[in-house]
Amino acid sequence: MLFLLDTADIEAIRHCNEFYPIAGVTTNPTIATKEKKDFWELARGIRKVIGDEKMLHIQTVQKTADKMVEEALLLKKEVGGNFYVKIPICEEGLKATKELKKLGIGVTITAIFTAPQALIAAKAGADFVAPYVNRLDNIIGDGTEVVSQIVEQLDHYKIDCKVLAASFRNAEQVHKCATFGCHSVTVTPKILNTIITHPMTDNALLDFDRDWKAVYGDKTILDF
Ligand code: E4P
Repeated sequence: MLFLLDTADIEAIRHCNEFYPIAGVTTNPTIATKEKKDFWELARGIRKVIGDEKMLHIQTVQKTADKMVEEALLLKKEVGGNFYVKIPICEEGLKATKELKKLGIGVTITAIFTAPQALIAAKAGADFVAPYVNRLDNIIGDGTEVVSQIVEQLDHYKIDCKVLAASFRNAEQVHKCATFGCHSVTVTPKILNTIITHPMTDNALLDFDRDWKAVYGDKTILDF
């Protein structure tokens, strides 16, 4: 399963890119505007931090297929590298996706809340479909169950499209997606850190440290 970062906070991206095995970054208009920066400064800044090989998913703000295609081409030209335009599921978005696939541009169809939406998006040629887990859980919609249905349908019909599960509020939702064989998730830096944190791990490390120091004091293996 691939882990992507769901943020436009450059410092958080720099940190996570250094310490975690992240495959890329996703943003949406809400995430991007939180940074209150010039848009191109932000987009190019993220690309500079993660390099050309990692995925960068940026959402179009256009409403018609023609403009979505135009904006996607501009984004690809300006940020370069391994780029995917995020397009919300709707008629214009599907039309734009079919066009963009002919032009060789990566597409992630986003704001997915049902398996049928994902299936149509995948058939239109989307490289990724992004179901919103926590927003479904908020309305008792069982977000991870929807992810599981989408993974199963894409596998069943052998469609070359990956699930990029999004909108997480906690690490348990991410874990559940992994048990269903979800191809990728996009999470906040906080959730990424929660995933690797466990009080028993902390205790184990304290014990190791105490036992070592009892015999060797401040010496480390490098000092022998
Ligand atoms: C990511 O691509 C989605 O836009 C994002 O995860 C939505 O998250 P939210 O439901 O926390 O706003």
